[in-house]
Amino acid sequence: MWGVRDLAVHERTPLLWSPSARRRGSNMDLDLTEEQRLIQHTARDFATREIDPIAAELDKTGRWPTEIVRRLGELGLMGVAVPSEWGGAGSDNVAYALAMEEISRACASCGVIMSVNNSLACAPILENGNDAQKREFLAPMAAGKTLGCFGLTEPMSGSDAGTMETFAERDGDHWILSGSKNFITNGPAADVIVVFAVTRRGAGSRGTTAFIVPRTTAGYVPQPADEKLGIHAAHSCTVFFEGCRIPDAWRLGGEGDGFKVAMKTLDGGRIGIAAQALGIARAAYEKAVAYAKERKAFGEPIANKQAIQFMLADMATELDAARLLVLRAAAMKDQGVRHTRESAIAKLYASEAATRITHKALQIHGGYGYVREYHVERHYRDARITEIYEGTSEIMRIVIASSVFKA
Ligand code: CAA
Repeated sequence: MWGVRDLAVHERTPLLWSPSARRRGSNMDLDLTEEQRLIQHTARDFATREIDPIAAELDKTGRWPTEIVRRLGELGLMGVAVPSEWGGAGSDNVAYALAMEEISRACASCGVIMSVNNSLACAPILENGNDAQKREFLAPMAAGKTLGCFGLTEPMSGSDAGTMETFAERDGDHWILSGSKNFITNGPAADVIVVFAVTRRGAGSRGTTAFIVPRTTAGYVPQPADEKLGIHAAHSCTVFFEGCRIPDAWRLGGEGDGFKVAMKTLDGGRIGIAAQALGIARAAYEKAVAYAKERKAFGEPIANKQAIQFMLADMATELDAARLLVLRAAAMKDQGVRHTRESAIAKLYASEAATRITHKALQIHGGYGYVREYHVERHYRDARITEIYEGTSEIMRIVIASSVFKA
């Protein structure tokens, strides 16, 4: 199979994945570059051939998809927007979002494993790290040789991220890090965590500092994986930091800059989660269309019924709207323009649309939607988390509202 780094096949790919429009030859093409198309193709081909066939098994068993994570790395999908000199595919965030949709369409668990590595582990080191940190930590992660995770959330500090209690105290040219982080996606398997700690008490968000901590550090203790409603193969866990002694060389960015590092990182991460929601929703929509054409009731396919057509029309509309919002936010990140508001809008809309779309897809399937065999119930369960992690819908509304009043 060809990969991102091979640049081989360049068939034109529509930006908006709409088979009927393509048949009419009228698909909108917002000028994807050859490279973005290649990455979209690579991800779609890989997801169809290698992830789709095992996605139900991964969901049922909750097995960590070691072989998929390895292949994502080999294909360049673990560091899509990281320059090749630092181990990545050297592409951009539009390509990353397109790839995230494809991978998540097959398996939402694989999607978020990829998203956390790209957006929450590689990106903050690329954007805030020095060359030594990029060489030691970023290059192997972007190449998929190691896996990263992101430690912001704590048991009593979720939406109000500024109230974290994990503390790092200076000890000469080292820091002693103590505390705990929870719901850490990739935590049980990750080699490296980008973690945030208070370094100056009473200084609010300006008293937080970011660190890069490898798993091998004494006192770094990941706990068993959480049991969850969905994304069963994407393991998350609590991580304890029991007096970890870490060199100042692993401090990421300036002392006191940690909160801003976290927020800027999440501005990018929310694009990945919005694209994940889009992929989950598209999977459910496509299954609903196929089922509606084949299932007969009252003497004809249910696709002939206006009640079903209206549901599918709403689903198609929301999918296109979500995709445009995701790609706008990704394009703004690529242009180096602040995209806090646009990322929040994309995540809010795509995640809530995914909940609505998977709900309708299950309804169209009737009783078959409720049983595992038809896979729609998996999409319905997987969609739900996209309204919660990397900022709940309520936090997205707070972020958007603050921009409304600044305007
Ligand atoms: N970019 C740059 N700077 C930013 C910023 C951004 N997006 N957002 C805030 N800041 C800056 C502010 O300008 C301010 O700077 P000054 O001190 O210089 O004025 C500082 O940060 C503090 O900002 P606020 O006063 O707005 O901070 P706040 O305490 O009111 O919190 C919040 C704002 C948006 C609610 C924030 O706490 C937040 O985003 N919460 C949600 C946390 C979250 O998303 N957690 C997800 C965990 S990760 C995860 O889920 C991973 C996974 O498993 C997949």
